[in-house]
Amino acid sequence: MIVPSTIEGLRAELAAVGRPLVFVPTMGALHEGHLTLLREARILAGSTGTVVASIFVNPTQFGPGEDLDSYPKPLERDLALCEGEGADVVFTPGPDEIYFEDRSISVSEGRLSEGLCGERRPGHFDGVCLVVLKLFNVIGCDIAVFGKKDYQQLAIIRRMVRDLNVPVEIVGVETVREDDGLAMSSRNAYLTKAERAQAPGIRRALLKLCEAAAGGNAEVADLRANFESAIAADLPDGRIDYLGIVDRSSLEPIKTVVDRPALAACAVHLGKARLIDNVEIGPESQPDGPLVS
Ligand code: PAF
Repeated sequence: MIVPSTIEGLRAELAAVGRPLVFVPTMGALHEGHLTLLREARILAGSTGTVVASIFVNPTQFGPGEDLDSYPKPLERDLALCEGEGADVVFTPGPDEIYFEDRSISVSEGRLSEGLCGERRPGHFDGVCLVVLKLFNVIGCDIAVFGKKDYQQLAIIRRMVRDLNVPVEIVGVETVREDDGLAMSSRNAYLTKAERAQAPGIRRALLKLCEAAAGGNAEVADLRANFESAIAADLPDGRIDYLGIVDRSSLEPIKTVVDRPALAACAVHLGKARLIDNVEIGPESQPDGPLVS
């Protein structure tokens, strides 16, 4: 496995590698969810293709007061995990390698990022789009793999690729969960033992909401109340940041009833962690995540 930290070094390594070139972008602090993305990438690359991962804690997607400085960076461990999953190359740039001090071009998505996490974290998805587009350009990948836990991110990346004619196929991979249902996240490491015991309640509350919506004509207000009382009962130390019940393709809020493919997505503060999760509701669940039409 090769570990370049400069764009020049990376490009030299990738000049003559086998195709397809399959890319897994990460911010490190890898867990089983990331390893699943790497395994999927290895399958997609096949025996002749190349798997490239990146480990870069991207400053432009963190807002003021967020956890940029405290974000865990266990680089040696992460590299060993990537090697164990058969990654061929891991790109580990520092911020100065990725960003010019006087940069003046940005990437901005103005529709899918309006609600959910985008509303709570202004500028976050612009930062994600900027770094992902730059990494696509630097790596020249054919396929890129993203998790469905960050459902809105996956939808926005698909939209960016479509709208900007970026020649990269985006593959979405199912959320990986702990045995008790908690979605895997690098931020789970911030939880105390007591908070960790409460955290699976987020998944349970989403599943209850999904069950209540199963008939296909549930009022969104009732679903919201249902979710709020489940969180209050199960997570005494939790605080809901948002719950969005949206159309699964446009990510626009559904106003009255769930009568089409929908998504319930939430963020809940628990101690120092802000945990996100989602559940697809209704017909035609898309195994590969959001379509952008
Ligand atoms: O999902 C993440 O870890 C990040 O948002 C990504 C895609 C690596 C961009 O920094």
